[in-house]
Amino acid sequence: MITLLVGTNRPGSNTRKVAKHVEQVYRELGVPLKTLDLADLPAEIFHPSSYETKPPAFSVFSEAILNSTGLVIVTPEYNGSVPGILKYFIDMLKFPESFEKRPVCFVGVAAGIWGALRPIEQLQQIFGYRNAFIYPERVFMPRINQLLDDDGALKDEDSIGRLRAQAIGFVEFVEKLRAVKVRPSKIDLENSILERLAVCSWSLQPKNPAQLIGQMQQIGLNQLQIALDPIREQPEVWGNVQEDCSRAGIRLVSGMFGTIGEDYTTMETIRRTGGVVPDETWEQNWKNIQVNADIAARLKLGVVTFHAGFLPHEESDPSYGKLFSRISKLADLFASRNIQLGFETGQESADTLRQFLTKLNRDNVGVNFDPANMILYEKGDPIAALRTLAPWLKQCHIKDARQTKVSGTWGEEVPSGTGEVDWNAFFRVLREVNFQGYLCIEREAGQQRVADIQAARDMVLTKAAL
Ligand SMILES: Cc1cc2nc3c(=O)[nH]c(=O)nc-3n(C[C@H](O)[C@H](O)[C@H](O)COP(=O)(O)O)c2cc1C
Repeated sequence: MITLLVGTNRPGSNTRKVAKHVEQVYRELGVPLKTLDLADLPAEIFHPSSYETKPPAFSVFSEAILNSTGLVIVTPEYNGSVPGILKYFIDMLKFPESFEKRPVCFVGVAAGIWGALRPIEQLQQIFGYRNAFIYPERVFMPRINQLLDDDGALKDEDSIGRLRAQAIGFVEFVEKLRAVKVRPSKIDLENSILERLAVCSWSLQPKNPAQLIGQMQQIGLNQLQIALDPIREQPEVWGNVQEDCSRAGIRLVSGMFGTIGEDYTTMETIRRTGGVVPDETWEQNWKNIQVNADIAARLKLGVVTFHAGFLPHEESDPSYGKLFSRISKLADLFASRNIQLGFETGQESADTLRQFLTKLNRDNVGVNFDPANMILYEKGDPIAALRTLAPWLKQCHIKDARQTKVSGTWGEEVPSGTGEVDWNAFFRVLREVNFQGYLCIEREAGQQRVADIQAARDMVLTKAAL
């Protein structure tokens, strides 16, 4: 694995902020990276006896260097030189094997105009002496305070491009020099995606578990997001779905419940009747949801998703408080069973949902991101919404749609890959935010569900493994 070294222990360091961006670049390239931060060095290493005997806590650092296939060193400039702690760290590592024939590349960060040219050239001398393989493309980042935004993120496109180009080149350099693959192969990537790719059981409209299993075998996927309501309503048919699936090698990875009284005829009817909003159905819905939560716990599901209903934009809206308290109740119910709860996206803008989730402030509540719903409900660009809601991502639905031509009416749900969702951008964002949850294919229209879901599976494998 490639190791990234943050070359300072200064609290609030800009070098650390640049290192975070470098981590993101490697994540986007699909290259595993381990970060070592000198701020985490054990205090005992600074005792003079460490020249002779290294404290046990230091082995995490020394072993990570010895096991790395390549090193990315991000260093600041302190007094025209390398930070003292970085040189001391190098002096503490095993000699000579730590850098011997080890590929290394450098990124320099400085407040001044020279962009850490001096410390990088000094490091090149040190690493040359230690027989490392030095990657020639260096990245200098002068006037660093002008390159970062208020949140400490890198905003300068030129620097972003140079860091990416260095990473691409360095990965090739490492692979050629060491005759190893540090990037997972396309087959490895596809296999890891296949393990996270599921089908929404309700999309297949099965009459019983045997039929559902047959359809899953035709599709060739082994994970299901299971509808909980049929298990509650018809235990004689669905009571053993988990055991039946498990015998066929199919896992239930998450659940979904609906609410009674939902009327999807028009945008207006669903606004009135959707989710936990209507008072007339709340009492019965709450009873059903409690049974569904028990079923989900028995099935050991990690995530359950549902449509909460249209959330009001403003806190001053009279229904805001009511909805807030109902959803808080649901959050407690599922938290007590150790289950994550995901709101289906789309019935409100990403910003409204973000504000609601921020105020709710529950670790176990987030979103089931559905890009098609953003289009169907005319709630904005799905990719921008995905970025906004990324911190709350619990699961994603793979579903596609085309926008309506008559505002205020439904758009059209279409087979995934044939609509307006920009799937390349969608998977790029998921890679950027390192999303590791399930991708569940949903299809709610059309007469050839199995074929459409197969096509969606192939589309995901092609796009997600790019
Ligand atoms: C002890 C010390 C010495 C520094 N010396 C220099 C210097 O010689 N040249 C320079 O451009 N910046 C210098 N700086 C400013 C850093 O370049 C600046 O803090 C930058 O953000 C990178 O360091 P950081 O990761 O600690 O934030 C110095 C900072 C510290 C803390």
